[in-house]
Parts: sequence; structure tokens; C-alpha cells
Amino acid sequence: MTSAQIRSSFLDFFKSKQHAIVPSSSLLPTAPNLLFTNAGMNQFVPYFLGDQTAPWRRVADTQKCIRAGGKHNDLEDVGFDTYHHTMFEMLGNWSFGDYFKKESLTWGWELLTQIWGIPPKRLFATVYQPGKNDPSVFDQEAYDIWAKIFKDAGLDPKVHIVHGNKQDNFWMMGDTGPCGPCSEIHFNLLPSDDEKAGRALVNAGSPRCIEIWNHVFIQFNANADGTFAPLAAKHVDTGLGFERVAGIHATTKGFKDFSAEPSNYNADVFQPTFDKIAALSGKKYTGTVPTDRTGLKAQEHVDIAFRVLVDHARCVSCAIADGILPGNEGRNYVIRRILRRGIMYGRKSLNLKIGDLTSLVEPVVQSLGDVFPELKTQRVMVERAIRAEEESFGRTLDKGLEIFQLHADLAPHGGKIFSGQSAFLLYDTYGFPLDMTQLLAAERGLKVDVSGFEKLMEQQRERGRAARKTDVIVASTEGDTVAEATKFVGYTIDPAQATHAKLVDVVKTEKDTYLVFDQTPFYAEMGGQVGDAGAALIDGVEFKIVDCIKDKSGRHLHKLATAEAPSSNLQPPKIGAAATLQVDYSRRRAINRHHSAAHLIHWALRKMLGTHVRQFGTHKTPDRMRFDFTHFEALTHAQIKECEQLVNEKVIDNSPVNAAEIDYDKKPADVLAFFGDKYGKRVRVVDIGGFSKELCGGTHVSTTGEIGVIKIVAEMAIAAGTRRIEAVAGQAALDHIAAKEAALSAVSHRLNAGVADVVQKFGIN
Ligand code: ALA
Repeated sequence: MTSAQIRSSFLDFFKSKQHAIVPSSSLLPTAPNLLFTNAGMNQFVPYFLGDQTAPWRRVADTQKCIRAGGKHNDLEDVGFDTYHHTMFEMLGNWSFGDYFKKESLTWGWELLTQIWGIPPKRLFATVYQPGKNDPSVFDQEAYDIWAKIFKDAGLDPKVHIVHGNKQDNFWMMGDTGPCGPCSEIHFNLLPSDDEKAGRALVNAGSPRCIEIWNHVFIQFNANADGTFAPLAAKHVDTGLGFERVAGIHATTKGFKDFSAEPSNYNADVFQPTFDKIAALSGKKYTGTVPTDRTGLKAQEHVDIAFRVLVDHARCVSCAIADGILPGNEGRNYVIRRILRRGIMYGRKSLNLKIGDLTSLVEPVVQSLGDVFPELKTQRVMVERAIRAEEESFGRTLDKGLEIFQLHADLAPHGGKIFSGQSAFLLYDTYGFPLDMTQLLAAERGLKVDVSGFEKLMEQQRERGRAARKTDVIVASTEGDTVAEATKFVGYTIDPAQATHAKLVDVVKTEKDTYLVFDQTPFYAEMGGQVGDAGAALIDGVEFKIVDCIKDKSGRHLHKLATAEAPSSNLQPPKIGAAATLQVDYSRRRAINRHHSAAHLIHWALRKMLGTHVRQFGTHKTPDRMRFDFTHFEALTHAQIKECEQLVNEKVIDNSPVNAAEIDYDKKPADVLAFFGDKYGKRVRVVDIGGFSKELCGGTHVSTTGEIGVIKIVAEMAIAAGTRRIEAVAGQAALDHIAAKEAALSAVSHRLNAGVADVVQKFGIN
């Protein structure tokens, strides 16, 4: 089997077991507290928690995952061993409250041993045995299932089942979120299939016995306080390491010959990139793996660099294609580090030059573009982003190598220690990862003061942590209670008609009080559009509503004005009371104008600059809109004017704006949907005049003429490769123009010249 055949064989197997096959989600995670999508289950978190009903009972997919810089971090091992990657594909099958342990483990065994032909004698299963203070209990159920499976295969369960504690056999996505005991399948890759020798290597960190498939039995939500709340339903979440299995298959000639040293990099999915690096460097990959990180031989340097580049080129290409550009903070900084690590290894060990890493995008697209089509559509942007980084880092790299030389010459402690401060300087200012500095230091017989470096790194990490979101996942389902989503009835509003609703809950926080109704015309903040304001009339008392937000179960929380909040004397109304709800209509219309304006600006930018332009973030208020997008350089004055012109032409045209709900998988190809956005099975398409179609849950004008006029008021950089446009529409645009006119006429008065003559008076033409 080729790598591609292994992938499709996995998916076909689960299709035959009634699983829907879904696409990989973006590497930009939808779950809070994650730097990157780090497991196949991330996109399904709302189904596990009961926040949303899963559209399917069973699914399977291959998921791009990055494990660098977060809870699961493998970066420092990449290149030095043959089975860790920064980005890898996780093949997985899931049950949302449907089948459980028996089916999952039995099917796993069937696929591995019967379909793929892995010798059963070489497989070991681990089951959860909690240590002191670990959550939950011994997983007897999984043990019994495995005991039967091994017995039926003529093998001794006592030899083939290994117990593991929380660290090895209780899987958590992050510090909070869905989790549960797990059962892993390990593969003995020693030349001999001796069971005792294989068992001794389970979980021992040996490349000769590695975990290939983890079956997690999701039953709890980990709370921020360290407690575990049982979920309403039990789920299955599995992850099989695609590159590991493909690599073993390639190394062992179809799981038959175990004499050779195993390596994921033997899988043909990596071959085009190896070939390209060999062509660029004129060097040969021989697959040597160092036993120690110091005193490396010349060929070991070369082989490490090959593996680093093969891995990193895939990782950064996929991340950038998903809109995670190299930058200075959080996940963007991790991508920058990976990219720079690749550039350095290329330069130092393979004599690669600026631009060579960019040319590795092509073999990555060749090997993965059919599975992850965004690699094909975003290829130009990916290449430009990598090239820009190669150029800027290429300059500091040489300087960094010089600094290294200088600091190494001045090494303290009798010339044996390379100071942590110097290592950090190289890391922080010149982008040298610690392992690269250690490698350079080892060549000079120096040891890096790692603890000094770590102290400075800790301060760096603090900054990273602050940049990450700290939302805590709260399950809406504990036991049998499921909070019901509020029905939203406010896409179109008739200002003469109030909405009648029933008060179903009053939610109090330390500062605020929120009212929840069974239905509402109030838009709850989402997709960058601010929440509605207005009023609720309940039992003859008018409550002013200043904002509306959504909780995880989709309830619209109507925020009361401070005067009506807990500190005031006003009693909150009684649950069950009838209410009349009125949205502040003119405020809503101003928001609509700015939201539709954002779609038009997006359309115009893609038309002018190219389809690499993608919405990155956006904010729409009654007064202005902000639109962040991927692009590499500042817009010129002429481009800003052209954008304004294109958009205002469409405003004057008075094009109709229509919205319709469709199935996500039936959406036409010309509808813009953004990786990183989370969509359900049913999605809403907003179509402006047939030329701008986007998936969008927001509210809009009914024809573009309602927008009145659009003015772009600012254009700026917000991160490397990300620009921001700020614009005003409708009354806000008229106010902006009026303010400029007033300023101009004040100047013309002072100059004692007509407005038309001011420019001439200053000698500007
Ligand atoms: N979520 C599990 C893992 O990543 C399958 O190992």
C-alpha cells in the first residue's frame, strides 16, 4: 500500500461501518485554550459537551494536527528521531453517544490485523489504571474486551495488556475540556517478535515499540479547578498516527520484514520533499539517527537537517494555508520559530540559500494537495509568506552565527559553558532555537547553560500565555439538563411590531444581570457583529437592554443597563413572565450597513488584489467597521481609492441582498467560507447581488442602496502579512465627510482662498 492507500483504506473501513467521512478542520482551532488544532476531536468538542447536537452519530476523517508550543509539544524532538512531527495527520473515528468501547476496540483490531495484516503477536494494548489521586477507576471494561481479543488470537492477555496511569492512559485535550480514560495500541518493531521483549518497551520511549492508535472514551469534562464532571453521554474519540503506520508499512515491506530500523520518513508521502532537498543541496539522505545530541557526525547533521526540513515545510505550508501566518505572538510566533528552525538547519547543514525553503512548498502541495485542497488554493500566499520570512531571517541568521562565534570565543568557566544569556540572545533576537545553539555549541565542545536560558525563556512564555485565550469550557449538559437555545427571530425587523416572548431565565454574574427569553429579535454578538440594544417591557416595567451575547448552548443573554443590574433596587422580573421586546431599530440599521459594507470591501479586495485575500477578523458596530485580511504589503493610496470606488458603485447599483439556509456540504463552490470558522451542518449564505456570497450568520441591509455611502478611513498593518481596513458607512460616513469639509473650509477661510484654490495656495498640485 502507498501512504495514500493506507489513508483511504482507513476511511473506507469506517465508511463500511456507517461512519460519515468529513473533511479535516482548520489548524486554527475552534476550541478555546489551544494554540493549534492538536487532535482530531477538537472540532467535535461541542458535541461531546452537549452544547450542540451532532449532525451524525458516527464520523471518521484525517485531521491535520500541530503539536508544537502547547500542552502536547513535540518540536524539540523533530529531526532527532524518526517518529515525531510538528504537523501530522491523525486518522480517527468518532461516536457521539452511539457505539462505545467494544465496537471501537474490536474494529480497531480488525482493521490492523485482518485488513492491514499486522501480526497480532506484535501488538500490545494499554488500559487505564489510576494512580493515587488520579480520576476515575480501573478500566475493567476495556481490559475484558482486550482479554477476549487476545485470547481469541491465541495470545496471552497478561503479556499483551499493559496498565498505564493518568499520564499515559487518561487523555486530555488541554487543561480543561472533554477527556477520559484511553486505551492505546503499541506496535513492537524489534527484529524479533518476542513478546516479553516487546512488552518491556511499551511506553519506554523506544522507536522500536511505538504507539500507533489511541482509543479515548470521552466521559468527563475537566473543569478549571481540577475536578472532572461526568458528561451526559459517553463518546468515542480515536486517533491513529498516519505517518507512523505509513512509515512502518514502508520500512517493513508491508508489515512483514522487521529487520530494518523503523522511520516514519520512509513513507512515500515525504518522498517528493526529500527529492527536492537532495536536488537543491546536492546532498544525500541516508537516514542516520544520532544516539546523542552532542558530537554529531557530518552525515548525522545532514540527515537531521533533511528530516527537519521535510517536517517543517509541511507544517508551515499547512499552517499558512489555514491563515496562521508567521508573526510575533502566540501561535503565529510558533510558526515563525518552526520556519526559522527550518531555514537555519537548511543553511547550516545543507548550504541551502534564501528561497530554497520556499521551493519546498511545491512538493508539499504535490503530496498533500489532494487531501487538503486549501494547500492548492492558497499556494501563492504560502510561498510569499515563506519567502518574506526567508529574506528577513536570512539577514539576521548570518549575523546570529557571527554573534555565536564571538560569544563562544568568550565562553566563561574555563571555556566550557555557553551562557544562557547568550543562548537567549540568539534565540530571542536572532531567532535561534535552543537546540540549534546547543548543536553549534557542541561542535565547539561547549555546553549551553540551559537553566539560565530557561529562566529567560520563562519570561518569554509568560508573554505567550498572556496572548492565549483563557476561556474555560463549561458543559451545558450535566446529568439530564440541557439548556435550550434561544430562537432568533430578528433577521428582519418591523419597527412597528414588537416581539412577544416568555422570560425563561435570569442569569446573574458579579457585575451584570442578563435576561433570557424563549425567542428574541435581539442579535447576540457573533462573527464580529456587536449585539443589539433595545428594551424589554415586562409586567409594565421597561428594562433597558444595552447588549446581547450568546452562551455556549446558544441562549441569547440580554444584558440589562447598569442601573437595572444587581446593585440597583429594581427587582429582576419573574421567570415565566410575558415580555415585549423591541430592538433599537436605527442602531441595528447602522450595524447592518457596516456589516454589508464589510462584505463589499472583502469582495472588492479579492477582485483587486487576488484570492489570497481572506478575512482574518472583523468587527461591526453602529459607528464603524474593521476588516482584517491577509495581504503582504500596504495598500497604495490609489488602491484604497479604487476599493472605495468599486464598493460605492455597488452601493449606487442598489443590488439586492438575500440570505438563505442550506446544507454546508451543498454550498456552491463560489461561496466564501473560511477555514478557522466553525460551521454546523446547516449554514446561512448571504448573497449580495450575485457577486458576493459568504457564509454569514449576521444581519444585513436589504439592498445595497441602504448603505448610502462608504468611506475608508484607515489602512494599516496589524501583523506580518495581515492588514486592517477601517471604514464608515451611512450616517457615520456622512459625518466623516462633513468633518473633513468643515476642516477644509476652516483652512480656506484662514488662507482667504476659495476651497478649490487651497491646494494651489500651498503649491501642491
Ligand atoms: N484524542 C486522542 C489523541 O489525540 C485520540 O490521542
